[in-house]
Amino acid sequence: MPGVNDIVWQALATHRQKIERTSLVELFEQDPERVERYRLDAAGLTLDYSKNLITDETLNLFSRLIDANSLPHRVQQMIEGERINVTERRAALHTLLRTRPNKLPETVLTEGQAVAETLARVEEISADIRAKRWTGTGDTPITDVLHIGIGGSFLGPQTVHAALEPGRRASVNVHFVANVDGHHIDSVIKRLDPKSTLIIIASKTFTTQETMLNAQTARDWLRTRIADEELHRHLVAVSANTERATAFGVAAENVLPMWDWVGGRFSLWSAVGLPIAIAYGFRTFRNLLDGAAAMDVHFEEAPWPENMPMMLALLGIWYINFFDAHTQAVVPYDHGLRLLPMHLQQLDMESNGKSVNTQGRAIAYATGPIVWGGEGTNGQHAFHQLLHQGKRFVPIDFLLPLRPHHNRQEHHDWLVANCLAQSRALMTGQPAPKADRTAAHRGLPGNRPSNLIVMDKLTPETLGATIALYEHKVFCQAMIWHINPFDQFGVELGKAIGKSIMGAITDDEDAAVDPSTQALIDLYKSKR
Ligand code: F6P
Repeated sequence: MPGVNDIVWQALATHRQKIERTSLVELFEQDPERVERYRLDAAGLTLDYSKNLITDETLNLFSRLIDANSLPHRVQQMIEGERINVTERRAALHTLLRTRPNKLPETVLTEGQAVAETLARVEEISADIRAKRWTGTGDTPITDVLHIGIGGSFLGPQTVHAALEPGRRASVNVHFVANVDGHHIDSVIKRLDPKSTLIIIASKTFTTQETMLNAQTARDWLRTRIADEELHRHLVAVSANTERATAFGVAAENVLPMWDWVGGRFSLWSAVGLPIAIAYGFRTFRNLLDGAAAMDVHFEEAPWPENMPMMLALLGIWYINFFDAHTQAVVPYDHGLRLLPMHLQQLDMESNGKSVNTQGRAIAYATGPIVWGGEGTNGQHAFHQLLHQGKRFVPIDFLLPLRPHHNRQEHHDWLVANCLAQSRALMTGQPAPKADRTAAHRGLPGNRPSNLIVMDKLTPETLGATIALYEHKVFCQAMIWHINPFDQFGVELGKAIGKSIMGAITDDEDAAVDPSTQALIDLYKSKR
């Protein structure tokens, strides 16, 4: 770590050696009140971080790291629209997408106006479809929405759509297609009728290969039953590239804007969230935005150590940079949140999977973790074995809504019991039983840290707050690592090579690749 960070970094490394001499169980014995102290409330979420390998001294060192990196100032810069995406010279204004018009920062009033106008369109379109004022050809009511997009234009809305399903009746069925694998679109469109289907093409660039091909396939499918002059009733686009969207055949008034100051992985709060508004109503979508906005206000205003995103970020840095944790598990004990680990995977890994700092210099310390996970209790019968006895050090975030959307109390009691049992078992472990042939196999080392993020119920508001919490966590970590979390140049090379291999497959062009790749191209061509 450069400059002033060096001293704090060294102090944290020394402190780690001290922490190593104790255990989570001992920390609780020495200080039972830590459970009250190491707990934060914000925007309907409670974070219990008491089962972490930390003491008050650790928090003091974290505080020095925050000061050394002027974190609150960085937060301000982001919210006020400074061009903090330094490589692309852009602002990162996803917080603006959820800010109520009367709370806009002075510096971004124009952008705020554009957001308000777009949200008004989202409200209008979703209301018209739900009220059957917007109909398909032959005045057929729209019963299905096919949302086509990939990466941030897909993961966010799909995650939210799944999470809000319990307890709500969608008035229109929403289907998501992302993968270029034809099995996906095939399996979806064969269940739909073009006349009653609205297609949303979500692509900031309107050039993403997978999305463009899926959009063409979907348009061809529409044309099997719909005349060209009626197509506009079935096509909506969300894009920063209006020209390409209209050239594709989307009516200009049906192209909802995206902006260069919103990255794909932060775009679910924009018109990319249209399928959520159509399925569950605009008010539900607004509630989601309000939940995220409440977390934004907390992030901007809460001082350390009461700031929840900063706390999650610093705990992550503690384990990644001082305990050599390579991965971060996210385990929601809620079926609705089953897709959240995938959304957070893109958010974190595409943002912080970087090896050079903002000045373009190679960095020697670890940056973003491999984010993975899955819903509890399913994971207990799959990957938890490694968490309990494996050689890897894996910090875990458990998420738990306290009240379900169903009345099956026994199910929920078991779900909660299991979640709490896992975090405790990871902490305490279990000594190997004596005089047993399998003793060595039965011992659990314990001392494995976890966070518990609790919410009263999974609602649009608490969901919005949860996703915003992780967005800000990722941002704080990037600021401390001195990397730019808002670009993703690493994905480009694969796209370019993919294009030339496609040329070799379809037009016998020279892909100019290595012998292994060439042999595989030839093998594929021989079977094609
Ligand atoms: O390839 C990565 C990426 O650019 C993501 O950052 C983005 O969310 C996704 O592709 C889709 O991009 P677009 O919305 O432009 O189709």
